[in-house]
Order: sequence, then C-alpha cells, then structure tokens
Amino acid sequence: MSLTNTVQGQNAIVTIDVAREEAKVSPTLHGAFFEEISHAGDGGLYAELIQNRGFEDANVPEGDTIKDGWLIPPRTPSFTIQPKVSDWRMRWNVKSQWPGWSLSTSGNNRLRLSLTDTIPLSNATPHSLCVEVKSTDRNGRDELINKGYWGINVVRGDTFFLKFYIRTDRIFKGPLKVSLQKNDGQILATHTFNNVSNKRWHEYKCSLIAHGTDNKAQFAFSFGSRGTLWLDFVSLFPAKTFKYRQNGLRPDLAKLIADLHPAFIRWPGGCFAEGINIQSAFNWKNSIGPLIDRRETYSPWGYWCTNGFGYYEFLQFCEDIGASPLLVVNVGVSDEFQSGTFYPRDSVPGLIQNTLEAIQYAIGPVTSKWGKLRAIAGHPNPFSLKYIEIGNEQYGPDYAWRYNQFYKAIKAKYPQIKLIASMGMGTINRYTLDSIHKLDIADEHLYKPIFWAMRNNHYYDKYSRKDWKIYVGEYACNGGVGSGNLYAALNDAVFNMDMERNSGLVTMSSYAPLLANVNRPDWGVNLINFDDYRSFGRISYYVIKMFSQNKPDVNLLTHIKINKPAKLPDLYKGSIGISTWDTYASFKDIKVIKMGRVVYSSENDNKKEEWEERGGHWYDNNGVIQQSALGAWPIAYLKDKSFDNYTLTLKARKDSGTNAFMIPFAIKNGNNYLRVNIGAWINSVTTVEMVSDGSDAIISNPVKLPITIENGKWYDVKLRVDKDSISCYLNGNLLISYKEPKKFFSIAGYDSTSGDIIVKMVNVYDHVLPCKILLNGINKISSNALFTTLAASSPLDENSLENPKEFVPQKSYIKVDSNPFFILLSPFSINVLRIHSLKNN
Ligand code: AHR
Repeated sequence: MSLTNTVQGQNAIVTIDVAREEAKVSPTLHGAFFEEISHAGDGGLYAELIQNRGFEDANVPEGDTIKDGWLIPPRTPSFTIQPKVSDWRMRWNVKSQWPGWSLSTSGNNRLRLSLTDTIPLSNATPHSLCVEVKSTDRNGRDELINKGYWGINVVRGDTFFLKFYIRTDRIFKGPLKVSLQKNDGQILATHTFNNVSNKRWHEYKCSLIAHGTDNKAQFAFSFGSRGTLWLDFVSLFPAKTFKYRQNGLRPDLAKLIADLHPAFIRWPGGCFAEGINIQSAFNWKNSIGPLIDRRETYSPWGYWCTNGFGYYEFLQFCEDIGASPLLVVNVGVSDEFQSGTFYPRDSVPGLIQNTLEAIQYAIGPVTSKWGKLRAIAGHPNPFSLKYIEIGNEQYGPDYAWRYNQFYKAIKAKYPQIKLIASMGMGTINRYTLDSIHKLDIADEHLYKPIFWAMRNNHYYDKYSRKDWKIYVGEYACNGGVGSGNLYAALNDAVFNMDMERNSGLVTMSSYAPLLANVNRPDWGVNLINFDDYRSFGRISYYVIKMFSQNKPDVNLLTHIKINKPAKLPDLYKGSIGISTWDTYASFKDIKVIKMGRVVYSSENDNKKEEWEERGGHWYDNNGVIQQSALGAWPIAYLKDKSFDNYTLTLKARKDSGTNAFMIPFAIKNGNNYLRVNIGAWINSVTTVEMVSDGSDAIISNPVKLPITIENGKWYDVKLRVDKDSISCYLNGNLLISYKEPKKFFSIAGYDSTSGDIIVKMVNVYDHVLPCKILLNGINKISSNALFTTLAASSPLDENSLENPKEFVPQKSYIKVDSNPFFILLSPFSINVLRIHSLKNN
C-alpha cells in the first residue's frame, strides 16, 4: 500500500488510554441464530438429501384453508390488533400432490401415482405414496425420481445410507432397484432389493457407494414387477456428516457455523417459533423421538419442515461446537405479520408446562419423564441448556402478562436458566417494559439500511443502564447493499463496534438470517449462502469471525480525531433530476444556481433531448414536465451534466397517487444517485435515499412532513447541495438536512489472557487512510503487532459460490518501533491490530 492513494492532509489519530478500563466485554457477545427459513435446515444444514421424504409436503397446515390459490388462516382476532382480524393470506404454490417427486417414463402410463393416508406408517405423518406398476418396462426406463433439494451432491467414492419403508399388494414381488444417477440416467451408484413383498410396512436399508461424480445428481426407484406398492419415509444421508453423527448435519455448513465459535445458538426461530397461525405453530415435542413419528411443522416461510433437525439434534450440535443452547418458546401467539392468531390466556398454564418439560428434556435427570427420553435418544448426561426466550417479537402489555407467568414458573423450578423477553420487531419499548415484572435480558431486533450504523455509531451509548441486559437477537445491514456486499460488512463491523464498546449492556448478539439456500431464498441478505454442493460466508461472516476471535475482556478509553484533507472533495458532484413513486406529478421552473449564477434553467434550456428518462411516462406540457405512471421510481435527469456546490430550485405539484415527489441529485447514472424523497411513506415523511446499482435504501432518519402535500397545488422546492451535506426546503421551510456520515471508526480493548491491546479500525473512505496510534499509560510494547485486514477493491464486492473465499481476512505482522506509530488502512477495510503490551513484564 502506498501513500499515493491517500488524500493529502487527511489522517486519523487514535489515542488509547491503556490505564482507563471501561465496560467489560461480555464473553457471550457473539452467538448464532438458526431458523428454518430459506431451507436453512431442510435442504441445508440438515444433511437429509431426499426432498419430501415422508410425502407430507402437500398437506394444508392445521387450521388453514386453501381458496383460489391462497392459503387462508382462521379469521379469528389477531393478537396485537384484537378484537380485529388480520386479512393476511399467503400464495399457496403447491402444484403437485407429491412435491419433490416425479416420474420418468418411456410412455404408456405404465406407472401411476397417488397419495393416500390409509394404513399409515405413522399416525404423525400419515401420508404415503401409492405406486401402481401396470406393466414392467422392457425397453425404456420407468422411474420414480427425486432430485433432492435442487440436486444431490454425489462424489465418486462417497457412501450414502438409504432407508425406506414399503408395503405391497400380493402381486408386487420386486425386484426394486434404487440408484443415484446423473440427470440423463447414467448410474453413479445402485442397489437391487429382490423379493420385495410385504403386506405390512417393512424397512429396507442399503449403502450406496458412488463410482462417479455429479454435483446435481438425482435419486431413482425402478420397479421390476407388476403390482402395487406403498412407499414412505425415503431417506438418504451421506455417510460424511458433521462429526459423523447419524441423522446428522452437512459438514461444510456445520463447520462454517462452528468456526464462528458462537457462545450460544438461538433456535428454532424467529417467525418459525411463532407459526403462520397458532394451531400450526412449532411444538418441540414434534421434533424428538423416532424420525417417522415426528409431525412436520409448516414454516411461516412457506414450506414444510421435517423436524429432522429437531430439539435433540439442536442440543447435540450446540454441545459439539461448545455453544450454549437458547430455546425460543411460543407464548400462544402466532406471527403478527401473518395471522397473529392466538390461544386465550387460560391456555398459558399448559404452554408453560410444555416449556418446563422442554427444560426437563434438556437438563432433567434420567429418572424424570422427559430426561429419560433424552437418555433413550442417546444422551443420558444433561445438555447445557442455558437460555429460554419467551416468545419471538411479541410486545405490549398482553404479551408482558404472558411473559410474567412464564418467568415466575420457570424461575421457580429452574432458577439457573436465564430468561429473555421479546421486544417486538424493533427496539426496547416502554409499552412492553412497563408491564414486565422482572426482566433479565431483552431481545432487540435491528435490521438496518446502509450507513445507519455509521450515523448511529453511538446508539447504545445513549441507552440508560438498568438492572437488565440487552440481547440483539437479530441484526443485519440489509438495505441498499444488494444481496450483501462489502458495504454491508462495513456497516455490520461498525455496529459490532458499538455493541462491543457497550458490552456491559449488550451481552449477546446474533446476526440474522444465518443460512440460505440460493435456490429458494426467503430473505434478501443472509450470512451464509449455499446450494447443494457449495457454500460461502459473506464478508459480514468474516467480520463477525474477526470480532469474535479478537474479543478483549475490557474496553479501553479511546479517542478518535480525523484531520480534514487539505481540499474537501465534492462528494455530491453529479447531475440533477426529478422522480416519483406511485404518484403522478408535475415539475416546472427547474433552475441550478451556482455562486449566484443560473447555470441551468428549464425555462431557457428545456429540450426533450436534454433529459434521460428511466421508466414512467414523461412529457412536456408547455414547459411543465409531467410524469403520469405509477410504480417505483421513474426518473428523468439531465444528461451529460455535472454540478457541484449549487442550489437547485423548482416547483413541484402532486397530481394524484400515494406519495409526493422526489428530487434526485449527485446522479452518476440512472442506477446510481441520491435523492430527497418528499412525501415518502404515504405522503407523511421526508427521507434522503441512496440508489446504488439499482437498489435503494433510506440513508437518513425520516423527518415528519410539517404540512400535508395536497393534490393539484404547486410547492416551491429548494435543494442546497454542498461538498458533504445537503439541505432541502419546502415553501421556504427546512424539511431535512443530511451530512455525509463519519467514515472512520475505532475501538480498543485489553485481553488479559494474551496480554494484547486489541485495536479495531474501520475505514469507510474510498482511499488509503494513514492512522496514527498513540498508546497512553504504557511503557513497553512488543515490536511486532499482528495485523488482520479485510478489504476488497470495491464496496460492492462480495464472496460467491464460485469464489467463496475471495474476500477473507489477511494476516501479517507489522513493526511497531515507536509510540505513537503509523499504519495505513486500505480503502473500505475492516482491521484488527493486536499489540502485545508486555504490561506485566
Ligand atoms: O430473520 C428473519 C425474521 O425476521 C425472523 O423470523 C423474525 O424474527 C424477524 O422478523
């Protein structure tokens, strides 16, 4: 790295007061949160390779009905708006009665499938697939195929364990052939079961050893005689699972989680713990015991979950990776963003009993009812269940009432369990707090757009300290960062700094969502992405790993100073435009004024060719530019123009529609610009927003509109654009001001085990930042410091399935031969410096 990439005169000074110890850093600060979303479990972490192994995937969740292609929950009151009823419904996309399975036949309808629930293998999962073989296939191939979860990863030499159940009529005798094969039918592994004839359900098993490789293979049955057979619970596992456990986990994904060394794992959700309606919500009891007897759970993310990665498997995984289990229990309320239906208060004692039993299953003696089942499952010793979260994202006095009952009953029996209260979708709220009798830990959820962390990097400094702690159960920078890029990671790093500095208050955190199968993502930005054979941690994953590996015991008082560059760059240089959102609007008298001189005027210069249009329907009506299309952000902007340090004035009129008008500026092109959105959120607020590579995010706090913008009325808009700040006025009154957020952040702490002073630094500048580090209150430091840096050439960069480790932390040793000393920080970089302090030598 060279100084030529720096901005002259600009540098950072970090002064660390080594003698001034501040808040302790919680040993449990970094955890993980697993939820069945985006096929995180089934088709992901859970190593089962057959999709819809139990033929239950066409079931309608309990309590719901299907009408005109929609899933409709019971129309009973919704918890937060009671006595009102939510009108939420969800698209029902199940097209087949046996999703995941298909026939490959050479014609003549020799195979016929039907779904049945008569003579079930298990009452908990009653459906089986009936296969009628009308005639056998001499020339062609008639097969029943399962393509797994968007492919089955078969690698030459690998062993797979197959298990399934069959019953037959008197005619079907077999043989029954099973195979792993390529898409074109080329066999990779096969086995034949002869004499398959059983009136009653019978289990069959075999190992398949692959003699070829295909990352997108499929599984097939082919039938060697006429007759009818019923199939159920067709399960295929790779022999190689995480720690070679039976019914185990996919090793690459489990390892990615294990490598984070999470202090705890929160499970099973999230919305998954709540359900789309209360009748179909998750119950831990359906997720233990023999797999064929586990009732499935309908994930609120729109698919069935086998519960194969159940409570026992979760506890075992936690133990395997040294994490404390955190179980989220349902308080009798379903997801309020879905139906929000709930059980009445008198069902709470039953729900509490269910929770006490879950605790007993995890930590009770083998002589207890539920502890005995744990022992039968293979774990006589108690697991280390440490936390229970009472509800997910519930809030308000009615929730607090339920929480209080749970709290009292759990504490009476298990005082050692730490209890967590939910706080709704966002931050701590008085509304809930005031009705809570005793609080240990409150769970905040913070999904935030780009630059929020930079604008709010002292967010937790401002919280008043009480006798309870905060768990940030779900957080992520997920707006304006595509599907996650270096910008997201920079934001996540700055947010993590805030949590670490305030770890006396924030004792736990977990990023969300953790896992997503790229073939069916339910959420835009996820920490670990994968398909059936590849996986990668996003740059944010490595941020969390860096922070967790470099966690001090205690914070040290740290001051930051940024010396301004000799010449401030014009950050908002670019063209100007006009835009709308779901609104028809008109604009006129557009002027750009620089140093008192009009450098553009629509009155003088307005020509159609001057404007570049993107979307919408724009036309010029005698000097009034009108936009008459609904939808997101049609924009017209001045082509080939660039302004800096200017004032833009115009008149704008809302003609009809939902919002009001938007004023784009700093336009580089139609996909990259900033804008002031006047009348966002149904004509109620003003925001500053960023459009980056075509995706948008709010980058300011929203400011309430002082007046209602009326249809058909002209308003004077003025936008003052300076080097690194803007102000926008409506009819002469200031609406919103925005200043470029800070771009350098640093915290420091001391780790007593290693004796290291750990300095974390985030450089959001697009250039190299020289940084002077001054350690006060210490005489001796080792001359070699370990420097870890995570950077990319563009803030839009990200790891990928093809290049999973393109952007990972790089380590080196740097010479520290004086105090203060200098280091150079790469543009857009996250950095950790460990300076051995020789404090005690
Ligand atoms: O992490 C995704 C979802 O976000 C969780 O299920 C829910 O708790 C939150 O709203």
